[in-house]
Amino acid sequence: MSVFEDAIENFLHPIGDLLKNEKISEIMINGPKEIFVEQKGLVYKVENTFPDEESLISAFRAVAQSVGRVIDDENPRLDARLPNGSRIHVVLPPMAKNGTTVAIRKFSKDDLTLTDLINFGSLSKEGARFLDICIYLGKNIVVSGGTGSGKTTMLNVLGGRIPKTQRLIIIEDAAELQVAAEHVVNFETRKEDPQRGITAVSIRDLVISAMRLRPDRIIVGEVRGAEALDLVQVMNTGHDGSMGTVHANTPLDACTRLETLCLMGDTQIPPDAIRKMVASAMQVVVQCSRYHDGGRRTSHISEVLGLDSSGNYITRDIFRWMQTGRTPEGKYTGQMVPCNYVPSFFEDVVLNKLPFPKSHFISHEWKKKQAA
Ligand SMILES: Nc1ncnc2c1ncn2[C@@H]1O[C@H](COP(=O)(O)OP(=O)(O)OP(=O)(O)O)[C@@H](O)[C@H]1O
Ligand SMILES: [Mg+2]
Repeated sequence: MSVFEDAIENFLHPIGDLLKNEKISEIMINGPKEIFVEQKGLVYKVENTFPDEESLISAFRAVAQSVGRVIDDENPRLDARLPNGSRIHVVLPPMAKNGTTVAIRKFSKDDLTLTDLINFGSLSKEGARFLDICIYLGKNIVVSGGTGSGKTTMLNVLGGRIPKTQRLIIIEDAAELQVAAEHVVNFETRKEDPQRGITAVSIRDLVISAMRLRPDRIIVGEVRGAEALDLVQVMNTGHDGSMGTVHANTPLDACTRLETLCLMGDTQIPPDAIRKMVASAMQVVVQCSRYHDGGRRTSHISEVLGLDSSGNYITRDIFRWMQTGRTPEGKYTGQMVPCNYVPSFFEDVVLNKLPFPKSHFISHEWKKKQAA
């Protein structure tokens, strides 16, 4: 038995059943007596408890130790990936007012595919086919969404569609992506640990290295800091087909969010120029959303068209998820529909003889709704 499994066995036995239950995707611990789980997108409180705060802290100290990390008064926060692929984040009291607070995002063994997303109703066949074409044509894509909305899953799926002959460099804070491609290089950042003389290696550092390692495409798992500027520069300098995810609620927000992040670094580039760079960096935004019924869906596939004469971003929706009703169980019904907008790069589709007729962008339903 591995050290990790041992630690689980001994210390995490109060939640052993939750860890084993494959239907549970996330476990949230808010102090010893309050545990919630996520199952099929919905969050429930469960009966499991830890005996007391002390045993809860010791449990996660042991887990941290098993992955060579420390969590104590001096390092009260821990972000780690367990050997089984699960991701954990821990915050200790007194910062955590409820007691030791933990979220465990369980690693799902079966990676979702484009077909799964279609079967779940998260994407339409045409939407999926269109994304495939965008990847084939080397469009730069930003996956946008809130926490837990399915961004990483989407990036994984899209990464798996990259043509086999291309060299892909993936950069992440905590290695999560498992892109099914032939030629993949994975990089993970390193946290600073002055006590052991270890210096930090940031996403920015790794993007610089990646640029020198002959990439065809670069993927940044999660853009949440000044590295946004690096990704935008990568996208603007001929590494077509690069991708990243960003926390934002609409495709338009994704543009502003990237701009804000670019300005976070100590850059000398004036804000106006940054805005222009962001507007020309990406061509497509894939918006992931978690709906109130627990379902995760691709709410928008939109094109970024640059800036208008007043300097505002222009985005146009190509496909959108439309709710049509609700089942008696409270699940939303609906589907992804085209928005009667033909993307500006449709000519590339024709020139490359890709089988995607213009009519796929047209929805008569939608037209009727707009007219009404
Ligand atoms: N379209 C989908 N249908 C059903 N479940 C999905 C879908 N997309 C993702 N999931 C599930 O939702 C959970 C969260 O997904 P994911 O990690 O991709 O989200 P995220 O937006 O990257 O989250 P975070 O903000 O924490 O990085 C996972 O358990 C994943 O399997
Ligand atoms: Mg993610």
